[in-house]
Amino acid sequence: MDMTIRPRRLRGNEVLRKMVRETRVDASSLIYPIFIKEGTDIKEEIPTMPGQYRYSVDRMGEKLQSLLDAGVKSVMFFGIPDQKDEAGSGAYAENGIIQKALRQAKRDFPGMYLITDVCMCEYTSHGHCGVLAKSPVETPPCCASAASRGSNEKIASRLGAAQVTVDNDRTLELLAKTAVSHARAGADMVAPSDMMDGRVAAIRAALDEEGFLNVPIMSYAVKYASAFYGPFRDAAGSAPAFGDRRSYQMDYHNSREGIKEALLDVEEGADIIMVKPAMSYLDMVTRIKEVTDVPIASYSVSGEYAMIKAGAQLGYIDEEKIICETAISAFRAGCDIYLTYFAEEIAKYIHEGKIG
Ligand code: PBG
Repeated sequence: MDMTIRPRRLRGNEVLRKMVRETRVDASSLIYPIFIKEGTDIKEEIPTMPGQYRYSVDRMGEKLQSLLDAGVKSVMFFGIPDQKDEAGSGAYAENGIIQKALRQAKRDFPGMYLITDVCMCEYTSHGHCGVLAKSPVETPPCCASAASRGSNEKIASRLGAAQVTVDNDRTLELLAKTAVSHARAGADMVAPSDMMDGRVAAIRAALDEEGFLNVPIMSYAVKYASAFYGPFRDAAGSAPAFGDRRSYQMDYHNSREGIKEALLDVEEGADIIMVKPAMSYLDMVTRIKEVTDVPIASYSVSGEYAMIKAGAQLGYIDEEKIICETAISAFRAGCDIYLTYFAEEIAKYIHEGKIG
């Protein structure tokens, strides 16, 4: 057979296979998301995320230490408060759950890099990512004249009660306040995940005004309205009490819109752009990487974790191999940073030479 080019030549030997690898990974690219709950002596397993726990501040150190031992030095904090209200005031309270966790983690683990999720949904009684507009139904421009004739009720029933409007601009103030309070308590980086327009600019201005010029913003810029967040909402008790998040999170039919979101956030001062979820959105990682010059993060969310765990428990897939392959696919797509509940396992696999 006359064949000059034989791609298999580069696959015949393990040393050679590793030599020609195009994707290299390192534990320093991993961020572990951790749930911190109000209370003491709590380490409770999250039913829909077997192997993941909610920790009270006094017990989170167990996990932080084992992460550090595995070589994972970055965590993303999510708070579970014991009280919620309409304005999500627990998000920016001086003694809020995240603020307490940050102070303690800074003291006990000075080598750990602390990132916080900045959002209202875990803190609002209604579970939305911002404060609700005063009127339950926003008047669409086409109906303005009818509304002015006083038929607001009729319009409301025509549009359906499920119309939820989160007040974008009033929410910005609260997000900025939350970011500043995290920085004050010791956050090294803040990561807004609310999907309000203009929040990166608002947070940047507020941080700068308070002297936190060097606290970077990792923006969940390209965040889709996704069923993959299901187990997280169970873990954090943050499912919306009514309606859904489609009026602020992105429609998964769209990719050019994701580029628009990413470019806007870079312009507003985002230091890192995140695409979320990971697995079904790797095309966006590649596209955003091409059009920006900031690091790109990819967040493998709770539903991705739950599917792997469930498949493995049923014996349908090999957990370790699937974790490795999934992680590498995100890096191959172009991400620089990978947020994952499997961070500790992946660091171990890298160390053992299973991937890397
Ligand atoms: C907060 C937030 C969510 C996630 C990260 N930050 C939930 C949501 O938007 O509903 C999801 C993380 C995961 O599913 O692992 N807004």
